[in-house]
Amino acid sequence: MTWPSFWWGEEMSEPYTRHEYDVIVIGAGGAGLRAAIEAARCGAKTAIITKSLLGKAHTVMAEGGCAAALQNADPRDNWKVHFHDTMKGSKWLADWRMAEFHAKEAPDRVRELEQWGAVFDRTRKQLINQRNFGGHTFPRLAHVGDATGLEIIRTLQERGIHEGIDIFMEYTVRHLLKEGDRVTGCVAYTRVDGDFHAFSAKSVVLATGGSTRCWSVCSGSWEYTGDGHALALWAGAELRDMEFVQFHPTGMVWPPSVRGILVTEGVRGEGGRLTNSEDDRFMFNYVPEMFQGDHAETIEEADQWVEEVVSGKLATVRRPPELLTRDVVAKAIKAEVEAGRGSPHGGAFLDISHRGEEAIKKKLPSMYHQFMELAGVDITKDAMEVGPTAHYIMGGIRVDAESQETTVPGLYACGEASSGLHGANRLGGNSLSDLITFGKRAGEYAAKRANNLAQPSIDGSQVSKAIEDMIAPFAREGGENPGMIYDEMREMMQLKVGIIRTKHELEEALVDLTAFKERAMESFPGTSRRYNSGWHQALDLINMADVSHACALAALTREESRGGHTRDDMPTPEDEYWGKTINIIWMENGEIKIRQEPVEEMRDDLQAAIKEVKAMIAERAKEQGGDD
Ligand code: FUM
Repeated sequence: MTWPSFWWGEEMSEPYTRHEYDVIVIGAGGAGLRAAIEAARCGAKTAIITKSLLGKAHTVMAEGGCAAALQNADPRDNWKVHFHDTMKGSKWLADWRMAEFHAKEAPDRVRELEQWGAVFDRTRKQLINQRNFGGHTFPRLAHVGDATGLEIIRTLQERGIHEGIDIFMEYTVRHLLKEGDRVTGCVAYTRVDGDFHAFSAKSVVLATGGSTRCWSVCSGSWEYTGDGHALALWAGAELRDMEFVQFHPTGMVWPPSVRGILVTEGVRGEGGRLTNSEDDRFMFNYVPEMFQGDHAETIEEADQWVEEVVSGKLATVRRPPELLTRDVVAKAIKAEVEAGRGSPHGGAFLDISHRGEEAIKKKLPSMYHQFMELAGVDITKDAMEVGPTAHYIMGGIRVDAESQETTVPGLYACGEASSGLHGANRLGGNSLSDLITFGKRAGEYAAKRANNLAQPSIDGSQVSKAIEDMIAPFAREGGENPGMIYDEMREMMQLKVGIIRTKHELEEALVDLTAFKERAMESFPGTSRRYNSGWHQALDLINMADVSHACALAALTREESRGGHTRDDMPTPEDEYWGKTINIIWMENGEIKIRQEPVEEMRDDLQAAIKEVKAMIAERAKEQGGDD
């Protein structure tokens, strides 16, 4: 076909630039960088395509640390305990194969980062220091103050440059190219000029992060619109368990312009206390059955734990209930606010001032500056106001545990875009370790596949169709402003597909989302391809509608409450202990479909490992004064 001169200044037969690579990685967060490094190390000609700028990834929002059983802060830790904690934190729904790889391989991946130049905080013996986080039995989070994700990104970027990876910054991928069943490349536009690019690739890795921008209160920035999830869905891949959304308990609630910005769990790991408007340490009232016995039962015990831990001793008493898993703490804060015991701006108080100015500025420097500059609060003297914020999607693209290949050949996924490791709830710190563990695996397997294939040719008709779809919004003069739809849709998701859900609201959400998608398909962003954020938003809205639909449909289908999915009308879990089913989503003729599959029983040796750890924890709780 020829393309109208209106868009390109002159009539042309192919208004796009062609590129060829062995492996294309879409996304430049920790998972994407780690995948690209590994692919390049395996000899593949590798490129990263990123919608945003290098260094500006949600990885930096994993502030408090990277979980790995290094045994530096507590020699009793090991891979079995990390495996147990991840499974328990996931409410026994994680893919146990992934949890096993993760627990066994994360320590090596962290040490490798250190060799590549990451400057972790140190113990007195000059080992990588590890801090406590919710749901981790031992202090396990390797950290760099409260900017761990940032340091990991910096390290991976530098390493990536040495590996000779090409980087395409501010390129947004809108379409995956296919030949038969397999993926053979992708089509992107540039954010600055609106130029089009077609990439031939033997393997494509989706490392696009999450989709928390679908909620109005979230910790992610504008990029987190579920691009990888949507690309996978549109290319015929399956998604898994999209109902599980992590509302991090502590986001900023005030002032309104910064609502949702993350307040690291590191604050609670360093001894932060949560109180309500009546000055009550309310978390003592919210310890669920499955965690009874392993958390402090009195304020004295909780305070003693903090004292021991900050002075570098092994804890002899149980940890404070502020360090329960995120799903539990987020729901507790919501319940306190709804009971009329919230802070002035609808959250809870989080106080770390008892640790003193020097310790706070040393261990939590970003939090100090964040509150000083954005809220005018000096956290060395006053409490912060915090409340839940959409932070992470546990569900995502279904992958093979070992290779990270999706259900479509040649298409891989890793990091937050993928699914399985975190089941119904992710433990804090397990995302940084996830992305270095499975980023490496995805890059390695993508490169291995590429080694055996010829360069695919670029199918011009698929590229033309993708470009037609991308420029379609310019022809809808008179249509609505996409920004209005964007705001309304996010508000609706917050209201109807939030922390607490009901059948009725989820059914309404599905109807609303169909209407939002129709409106998005009619929206008009003006006619310029240059620096036109309205155009980008008009396109993003389509993925957001589809990914939100997948989430609402999965939430409606899961008739139980578990981890990051709470149904007011179905409060009990299907089974107190094991997760029984996973939700599989796919697209057929433009329609999003769902089916349930039974969870596969855990391998015997892993069941034995869980039993061993449970016995150790029960014994320890007894020694520490619990009655378990
Ligand atoms: O609270 C935090 O620092 C976040 C960490 C994470 O999500 O893993």
